[in-house]
Amino acid sequence: MQNSGMARRSSAAGYQSGFGNHFATEALPGALPEDRNSPQRCAYGLYAEQYSGTAFTAPRSANRRSWLYRIRPAAVHERFVPLDSGRLVGRFDEVTPSPNQLRWDPLPVPQAATDFVSGLVTIAGNGSPEQQSGCGIHWYVANRSMHGRFLCDADGELLIVPQLGALLLKTELGIIELEPQQIAVMPRGLRFAVELAGSEARGYVCENFGAPFRLPDLGPIGSNGLANPRDFETPVAWYEDREGDFELVEKFAGQLWTARIGHSPLDVVAWHGNHVPYRYDLRRFNTMGSVSYDHPDPSIFLVLQSPSDTPGVDTIDFVIFPPRWLVMQDTFRPPWFHRNVASEFMGLITGSYDAKAEGFTPGGASLHNCMSGHGPDAATFARAIRADTSLPVHIADTMAFMFETRTVIRPTRFALEAPQLQGDYQRAWRDLPRNFSAGDA
Ligand SMILES: [Fe+2]
Repeated sequence: MQNSGMARRSSAAGYQSGFGNHFATEALPGALPEDRNSPQRCAYGLYAEQYSGTAFTAPRSANRRSWLYRIRPAAVHERFVPLDSGRLVGRFDEVTPSPNQLRWDPLPVPQAATDFVSGLVTIAGNGSPEQQSGCGIHWYVANRSMHGRFLCDADGELLIVPQLGALLLKTELGIIELEPQQIAVMPRGLRFAVELAGSEARGYVCENFGAPFRLPDLGPIGSNGLANPRDFETPVAWYEDREGDFELVEKFAGQLWTARIGHSPLDVVAWHGNHVPYRYDLRRFNTMGSVSYDHPDPSIFLVLQSPSDTPGVDTIDFVIFPPRWLVMQDTFRPPWFHRNVASEFMGLITGSYDAKAEGFTPGGASLHNCMSGHGPDAATFARAIRADTSLPVHIADTMAFMFETRTVIRPTRFALEAPQLQGDYQRAWRDLPRNFSAGDA
C-alpha cells in the first residue's frame, strides 16, 4: 500500500482517498506530534493511544493500527453492565439450520422510538467472535438518531449497507456521510454514533468476526478494475469536546454491555495510521463481464474480501450486482442454476434483481445455503431462454449484493418466525416445466 492521502491541516469534515493507506490528519494545527523522539508528549495536553486492529506481529501488508491523540484515553468510563441485547443475537446455535432456500420481505421501520443500536435485528450468522471467524448478519431499522450514546463493537468490524435513508456516522476518527448505494466499514472497536438524515432508515450490516476486509487481488484482470482504491474515502480528523451524562454501548463476546461515560468519546483531535473507517460508493464499481458468451462466476463482482487461513478461500466475500450491460450472445444471460460449497445471503438495495421476476424486493433478503440449489425463477428462465441475444441489454435499475461465506449461514429464531419470511419460496422454481424429450436433439 502506498503512503498518500495526507490531510494534516484539515479541521473541517472531509475525506482522504485510498484503501489501506497510512493516513495522517489533525483537526488542530500541530496536534500530530512532529518530534519523532517524543511522540508520547502531545501538544494541547492530549493523550496518545494506540488502537490496533491486527496482532502486533501481523505481516506488514496485513498489519493495521492507528495512533490517536485525544482529550481522554478510551479507558475513562464507568463499569460496564449487561444490556438487554433485544433482537441482536451473538450465538448462532439456537435453531438447527435447514437446506431450504429462504427469502424475506423487508422489515418495516417501527413506530416506536428506535435508534441504530436498538434497531439492530440479527437474521443469521456463523462462527463466533471468540474464534475470530464468521459473521453476524443483521438488519437495522431506525427512526431516530443516537443521542448521547455511542456504540463500539469489539466482536468485529461492521460493514453497513444502507437501503433506505441517509446516515451520518460520527466516529472517533471523523465523520462519514452515507446514503443508499454507498457502504461504510467501521473497524473493530471503533466508537461511533449514527445519526439519521431523514425520518427513517433501514439497511443491512455484516459483522465480520474475522480478518479485516481488504481489496481482492486482480489476477489476470490487471492493475485496474472492480473496486478501485482511490474511490475509498476515510474521514479527516474531527472531534467534539463535550461533557455530560452519556452512554457507551459495547458489543462484546456476543452480547451488549453499557457503561456511563461523562464525556463524548469522539474526542480524537488528531490521528495517523491505517486502522480506519471508510466509505465506498458502489456506483463507482468498475464492473467486468463476459463480452463473448456465458455468465462469469460471481467472483467477478467481488468488492471486498475477508480472507481465511486457507489460501484462496475467504471467510466472507462482499459481492455486488450493479447496473451493467449484458452483451453475451447465443447464451443464457441471467445467473445460471447452481449449487455452491459456499453459502449466500443476498439483499437488494434498489430496483430489481435480474434472476428473479418477483418476490425479491428492496430491503428484502434471501438465503441459499451450502449446496442448496437456486437460480432464476420460472418466469425469468422462460423469458431469458427465448431472448434475442443478438442485441445488448442494459440493466439500469438495480443494486443487489451478497454476503457469501465459506461456512453455513445459520438463521436466527427471529428470522425463521418473522412474518416477513416467505412461506413458499420454493414456488419460484416449482413452475419450471419439464422440457426434456428424448426425441429432440
Ligand atoms: Fe448463488
